[in-house]
Amino acid sequence: MKNFKRTLVTTALPYANGPVHIGHLAGVYVPADIYVRYLRLKGEDVIMIGGSDEHGVPITIKAKAEGVTPQDIVDRYHKIIKDSFEELGISFDIYSRTTTDLHSETASEFFRRLYDKGEFVEKTSMQLYDEKANQFLADRYVTGECPHCHNLNAYGDQCEKCGTSLNATDLINPKSAITGNTPVLRETKHWYLPLDKWQEKLSHWILEEHKEWRPNVYGQCKSWLDLGLQPRAVSRDLDWGVPVPVEGAEGKVLYVWFDAPIGYISNTKELLPDTWEKYWKDPETRIINFIGKDNIVFHCIVFPAMLMAYGDNYQLPDNVPSNEFLNLEGDKISTSRNWAIWLHEYLRDLPGKQDVLRYVLTANAPEAKDNDFTWRDFQARNNSELVAILGNFVNRAIVLTHKYFNGVVPALGEIQDIDRAALDELATIKTALSENLDGFHFREALKEAMNIARLGNKYLQDAEPWKVAKTDMKRVETILNVALQICANIEVAFAPFLPFMAEKLAKILKITDNNWDMLGKSDIIAAGTQLEQPELLFEKIEDETIQYQLDRLERIKKENVIKNFKPEPVAETIDIETFAKADLRVGTVLDCQKVKKAKKLLQFSIDDGTGEPRTILSGIAEHYDPATLVGKQVVYIANLAPRTICGIVSNGMILSAVNADGSLTVISPSAQSTPGAKIG
Ligand code: 2FM
Ligand code: ZN
Repeated sequence: MKNFKRTLVTTALPYANGPVHIGHLAGVYVPADIYVRYLRLKGEDVIMIGGSDEHGVPITIKAKAEGVTPQDIVDRYHKIIKDSFEELGISFDIYSRTTTDLHSETASEFFRRLYDKGEFVEKTSMQLYDEKANQFLADRYVTGECPHCHNLNAYGDQCEKCGTSLNATDLINPKSAITGNTPVLRETKHWYLPLDKWQEKLSHWILEEHKEWRPNVYGQCKSWLDLGLQPRAVSRDLDWGVPVPVEGAEGKVLYVWFDAPIGYISNTKELLPDTWEKYWKDPETRIINFIGKDNIVFHCIVFPAMLMAYGDNYQLPDNVPSNEFLNLEGDKISTSRNWAIWLHEYLRDLPGKQDVLRYVLTANAPEAKDNDFTWRDFQARNNSELVAILGNFVNRAIVLTHKYFNGVVPALGEIQDIDRAALDELATIKTALSENLDGFHFREALKEAMNIARLGNKYLQDAEPWKVAKTDMKRVETILNVALQICANIEVAFAPFLPFMAEKLAKILKITDNNWDMLGKSDIIAAGTQLEQPELLFEKIEDETIQYQLDRLERIKKENVIKNFKPEPVAETIDIETFAKADLRVGTVLDCQKVKKAKKLLQFSIDDGTGEPRTILSGIAEHYDPATLVGKQVVYIANLAPRTICGIVSNGMILSAVNADGSLTVISPSAQSTPGAKIG
């Protein structure tokens, strides 16, 4: 491996058109933060760059929908995103945004240099234009049928169903997202980056020099390269973005995917106005881009081509760790369907549980394939791993030290095999943990860290200091010294993953200056150190907390069903005589009971005005508690031929509406009516 002097870590800039959710966190920000914290613990020179991506069509669409300006939208979400990242402990060195002047200047200058060097191809082409809205329809301003999978709701830049990236003019039956009109074709000029020019260099760089990249990243790049790279437009007809800095480009801005990655550079400049260049232009800097899988082509092909075209010694990324997607309770996370756990809401609903989320998202990270987040798994991992293994061990070691030695760390006496084995194991775990972190295998790395806690539990279980205390306090001293050294190893090993827990533990153990070199050692805490009182590191999560979250998701699912409800087509036309054949009446429910052995049936006794109660069976038992229907009025068909079900003769049928979510609601008159009254 090449030797590097410093590392620049970038994290994909999230669009400021909504808050961030657990999919973003698991895919990008939690792994990046673990990595950066790890390098900092090793004493390396590392900076972590983040920021909001504040341009692009989705932001302008949201602004239009709300009747506010795009700036209002990005101001709102930038704050929510920034604050929630901070609360989760994502330790950016800078979290800025792409609407700063510095970013505009940087992106403009970048474009201008490429323009002056003749790196663009200028092309006039026919683009979709909305004559009612008087504007071109870039990217998501147009929807239509995907030419590949025939999804009817594909966007002008991408079909979310089959994942193909599209040009707006590829869509079948395009419609303007602003007015719903069918757009026309109109001529417009744009600047294209000829990716084909960089095909050979990119192929060599990725396919030959970066075989170590994750298979999903390497594979996606290979298929793009195999298809043959095409020129890509880097400007748009839009009034929100960085203006194209050349004459005759009024009304045109840089394509959001041109300016966003330059945001990494502007944000580094903002952080380090005097020294930023060494992080970008010195070959001894290692650049790591943490991204989600939908960003692979832009980071591995487009942005590198931009950097090569710019020249001036800009360095290409050394690795681009990209995760697959995280699903939620078996369904794809979706902002538009509100099918997500939003970070700011999680922090509100489960205060103080940042590390639990970090733990679960890492343990379940979709590193090699899509993965699922479920609230039950979240609860189980907290209760049976963080509480029962990690918290339990640390607590026992500290409580016993207080019990036998008033919280003063005892000295290590004569070592026995069991102690030696435990201490040796720490060094082995350190190696595995470091290798996994170096290789961006965060799930495995976390398992290794957890092995230290397992080791600790087993050690205490086998050494049984509470028994030994009856006969040999010298031996107890050694056992607790070893146990406390294991706790100290936990503090260091978990510091990148669970920084809040690590900080609490460091305070209790009086570790003031932790670093990765300590890991694997058996003399981290000196004998004689006075420990603080134990504090529970994790607490059990109760069923009610989980049920509250599950109920929320259930509600969202129902809302979505209702939003997407399409009424059944109207049945064949009938004449009035045919309708009049059905004798509809109002009746009052005298009694209503479940029918034994029939899950769905309720037996009604109805006052139909004749003085003789009428029996009707209805299949609504799953939707109603029968007692709540007694006294209510219902509508029924009085002249339906009697039918015998479960040995009961039903004389008629009670009318109910079949709702979008499949639930049934019994139809009642809007005011008290006469039992037996005819409906017509
Ligand atoms: O996919 C996204 O959310 C983009 N906003 C990521 C941009 S990454 C970088 F290029 F800024
Ligand atoms: Zn498609």
